[in-house]
Amino acid sequence: KGLYVGIDLGGTKIAGALVDRDGSILRRIRLETRVEQGPQAVIDRLVESIDQLMDGVRSTVKGVGVASPGPLDSRSGVVFSPPNLPGWVNVPLRQALEDRLGIPVKLENDANAAAWGEYRFGAGQRKGTMIYLTVSTGVGSGLVLDGRLFRGENTFAGEIGHTIVDPEGPPCGCGRQGCLEALASGTAIAKLGQTADPSSSIHSLAAEDGGVVRAEHVFQAYRMGDAHAENIIRQTVRYLAIGLSNLIHIFNPGKIVVGGGVSRAGDVLFPLLQEQLDRYLMAPFRETCEVVPAALGEDAGVLGAAALWTDCGQQVVAGE
Ligand code: BGC
Ligand code: NA
Ligand code: ZN
Repeated sequence: KGLYVGIDLGGTKIAGALVDRDGSILRRIRLETRVEQGPQAVIDRLVESIDQLMDGVRSTVKGVGVASPGPLDSRSGVVFSPPNLPGWVNVPLRQALEDRLGIPVKLENDANAAAWGEYRFGAGQRKGTMIYLTVSTGVGSGLVLDGRLFRGENTFAGEIGHTIVDPEGPPCGCGRQGCLEALASGTAIAKLGQTADPSSSIHSLAAEDGGVVRAEHVFQAYRMGDAHAENIIRQTVRYLAIGLSNLIHIFNPGKIVVGGGVSRAGDVLFPLLQEQLDRYLMAPFRETCEVVPAALGEDAGVLGAAALWTDCGQQVVAGE
């Protein structure tokens, strides 16, 4: 029986797991990315971690799946210049890993891999058409259309974070302006929190907790009834709803699964998102699309990346 390794490479953390065909996690690993050390050092540590995960079972490992922020080319295995992997320019990640590991590697966009993980093993429940949205350092999406992970002509599809939702909006890490990611990511929420009115409890909450304003402080202040935090969160969710409603009108998903660090504030996020979506969606879409939190949490990426080896792109029939 074959085993697989799934890796979720992020701007700050790397998660890895040894996984079987059914999506059971047998071993895990977590480490800091330390992206400032450059791609080579990160690749070295990836190889070490994967070796560790395979220790003693190497001969049964059929493949390694790596999820990485995009844009990337999953066919050639090259990571271009992800806004959230600063310093990475056209890195042939798949080839570099295969050369060092001697095991076949697949590379996939992080949100696509998490979408596939949720679709196969989590909240997606093999609902034919499902969209996964991640709101964290970046904003990304993965499109499962009629049971298949949709990649597009060059495998770049699903970059919702860099769709423009306000042409006059703030600069984005991708070099353009007004992207959804620049307006509604965890990073964007934190930035808005930092510049909030000095009287806002956002600042006192941050001061009691290390001093630097993070998105979670803004959510905490919101729960306490802070008007400045309410403005920030409402505005952010409004942009998310605009981005999502555009995707919903185009693809008619039965489910939107929302994950990523910011979704941990689901008690605040989901009611507001539903309210805003009801405002932006045409009636038939309101009744047919459910918005739910991710079920696999931080495991979606590693499970989806590993599952790229077993069944990705095949038609998976509901209830099968
Ligand atoms: C990248 C996406 C990625 C998302 C979440 C965005 O900045 O362009 O490819 O899925 O961040 O990491
Ligand atoms: Na994607
Ligand atoms: Zn952008």
